[in-house]
Amino acid sequence: MSDQPQLILGIESSCDECSAAVVQVAPFQSAQILGQATHSQIALHQPYGGVVPEIASRNHLETIQAMIDEALRQAGVRPEQLAAVAVTNRPGLVGALLVGVSVAKAFAYVFAKPLIAVHHLEGHLCSLFLTEQQSLRAEIAWPLLVLMVSGGHTQLYEIRQPPEHWPLEVLAESLLGQSRDDAAGEAFDKTAKMLGFPYPGGAWIEKTAQGGDPARFAFPRALAGRQTLDFSFSGLKTAVSLQVAQLRQANTLAAALPDLCASLQEAIVDALWHKIEQAYQRSPFGALAVVGGVAANQRLRERLAQGCQRLGVRQAVLAPELKFCTDNAAMIAAAGGFRLQQGNFLRPLEYLQLNATPNPARPRRPTVAAARR
Ligand code: KG4
Ligand code: ZN
Repeated sequence: MSDQPQLILGIESSCDECSAAVVQVAPFQSAQILGQATHSQIALHQPYGGVVPEIASRNHLETIQAMIDEALRQAGVRPEQLAAVAVTNRPGLVGALLVGVSVAKAFAYVFAKPLIAVHHLEGHLCSLFLTEQQSLRAEIAWPLLVLMVSGGHTQLYEIRQPPEHWPLEVLAESLLGQSRDDAAGEAFDKTAKMLGFPYPGGAWIEKTAQGGDPARFAFPRALAGRQTLDFSFSGLKTAVSLQVAQLRQANTLAAALPDLCASLQEAIVDALWHKIEQAYQRSPFGALAVVGGVAANQRLRERLAQGCQRLGVRQAVLAPELKFCTDNAAMIAAAGGFRLQQGNFLRPLEYLQLNATPNPARPRRPTVAAARR
């Protein structure tokens, strides 16, 4: 493991954020962000109510070089000074991923730098170890339970050690449970679409829920009484759509919107908390963290904090700053930097073969031994 600080260029283009960042990584310290430029495509996709893959890849192609130039400029770093290039190569929209992977390969090849292919979700985990989380990093009470709630994933991970020690299969080996169907983010987004809110809908639901009665509509909390640490949100979407149809018919939907959104939000937050509580009862954790776009939800944070206080969890709730909860290249650069320190990287001719993988094999179910822990 190198004990010298290393400069990493990170590139993220897996969905609708085109981002580049330069971070400095040193062993057992938080990755320091020296520069980051992100172009959000939300406005481009909004008219369609969701991400249009072809529009996403074309826009990445147009903006990615400007993001890289800007990140390097902010950092005051020349390409020659970089130790490596890290890029998200899985999972995501294949065309969008390919833009980042191709640009990263070309950049690394021209400047004769190693390349690290990063799993997007490992990047989200590493958002916990970015500079703004310095004190967090020093004091983590392992094991750390991480609730990953991005637009496409709802998962629980039990992380037992700092990223420098992570095995290559850290995601598969630490996974305790995940959604069997829709992600919590999708439950927010699909309901928002049903109600005519702009994409992405999570923040709109939260805003509309303010002042609403979370107990007015009894939406299901799937798998609540079951042993599994998996989640399920597709039934919730159906229950909400039936309720919306009823309210529309009675011409009372507009007036009921705050109660409807508050009840939906409460059902999602409740279902998430329930599995965290079950995980704690199975094997107490020292700290709880939440990462991914849905971590922006204040009701979720409040509920997790209250629950952890009741259980006596030592550290709760650790969460990256909001701008590092949503997709960004700093977390990818950090993940790449930790792998580089372990000696896990590709050399120039090796990475010419590297491909983008839209949907890698889902992490396997927890083993019986892991489930018992
Ligand atoms: O992690 P992220 O930026 O993108 C992915 O990697 O998928 O997550 C986006 C998700 C969307 O589903 C969005 O609706 C949700 O995060 N989200 C929220 C809030 N802000 C963003 N959900 C609930 N409440 C919010 N305030
Ligand atoms: Zn993400």
